[in-house]
Amino acid sequence: MDKPRVFVTRKVDEAAIALLETVADVEVWPDYKAPSKGALLSNTKDVDGILANTEDRIDEDVLAVSNGRLKVVANMAVGFDNLDVNTATGLGIAMSNTPGVLTKTTAELGFALMMAVSRKIVAGDRDVRDGKWQNWHPSAYLGVDLAGSTLSVIGMGKIGFEFAKRAKAFEMRVLYHNRSPRKDIGEGFEYCGKLETALEQADFLCITTPLTKETHHFIGKAQLSLMKPASILINIARGAVVDNIALFEALKEGRIAGAGLDVTEPEPIPADHPLLTLANVVITPHIGSASQRTRRDMAVLAAQNIKARLSGEPMPSCVNPEAMTRKTQREKEEEYALEVLREEEDEEEV
Ligand code: NAP
Ligand code: GLV
Repeated sequence: MDKPRVFVTRKVDEAAIALLETVADVEVWPDYKAPSKGALLSNTKDVDGILANTEDRIDEDVLAVSNGRLKVVANMAVGFDNLDVNTATGLGIAMSNTPGVLTKTTAELGFALMMAVSRKIVAGDRDVRDGKWQNWHPSAYLGVDLAGSTLSVIGMGKIGFEFAKRAKAFEMRVLYHNRSPRKDIGEGFEYCGKLETALEQADFLCITTPLTKETHHFIGKAQLSLMKPASILINIARGAVVDNIALFEALKEGRIAGAGLDVTEPEPIPADHPLLTLANVVITPHIGSASQRTRRDMAVLAAQNIKARLSGEPMPSCVNPEAMTRKTQREKEEEYALEVLREEEDEEEV
């Protein structure tokens, strides 16, 4: 049998590559830009594993191109809305994400965005560089205090909770909305069963839900209209959880006061997007998990998932364990070939 082959769609930490090389021949896409769909298909037609990231659409075409050889796709991200999990499960292809290792790093970036917008840090920096800093004035660059304000976290999961804990340390009141209340987070975090309640009361809104069919444009015109005119929205989840055109209109008309976005729809945001014309918006280029240590940990966890699957061991963070109960087309063919061989040997003995 051939040595397994793994395609890695972007350069990642050497520690992850070294781990993969203990079980497979590894090929790494060399360019900074993501492989095109065509390049993804041609590079994965004879692989057993793919180490992908959020920009790579792992759809039915990619899942089918190896003719049953592909066994595992490890996403180097906790969100996995770029993976066609249903099709993969049916084909016996295991998929994984990287929960936990990026939680605090992403919450910290979200917090940085909240502070940048609330205290006009980016707008102030821009003015300083443009020579517009004239003098100190009692009413210049007035922001909003975090202390004493109410934060609503939409999606109080791992990242949402780390964000909420930081908000508590800044003396904020914290509300949250999930489909169900959390029993494991202690006192001081108020559950809102209705999204509307969380929206109406928020001075700051932080969005940390996964992108699913249910959460696509979860925050649109109707939801934004419930928010306070002085409120600030932070999105560190996925761009499409917020309807960005409705967001632009709400900001432009002063129906909310500001936004901090680490994610947009689409990504990258086009240079002529209306959101970029607004001074009360800060946008970062999807860098929630971008610290050196976290990116290494994410790559290593993705590699551990691939190694485990190729070695027949339990994967640390599989998102579709049902896939393990099915055989890939290649495994079925190999089993059949072995059966035929055994039958032939038996016949020869007789
Ligand atoms: P998590 O622990 O699974 O938390 C997700 C939370 O969202 C859960 O509390 C869940 O609670 C809630 N939720 C899910 N569907 C919901 C719905 N329909 N309505 C209301 N709440 C809902 O995930 P995580 O690790 O915190 O990551 C969250 C997301 O952040 C990821 O999926 C990813 O898209 C994004 N992310 C972005 C970056 C970045 O670079 N900006 C980095 C990491 C992650 P219930 O199940 O009770 O509803
Ligand atoms: C990044 O966006 C992630 O989901 O980990």
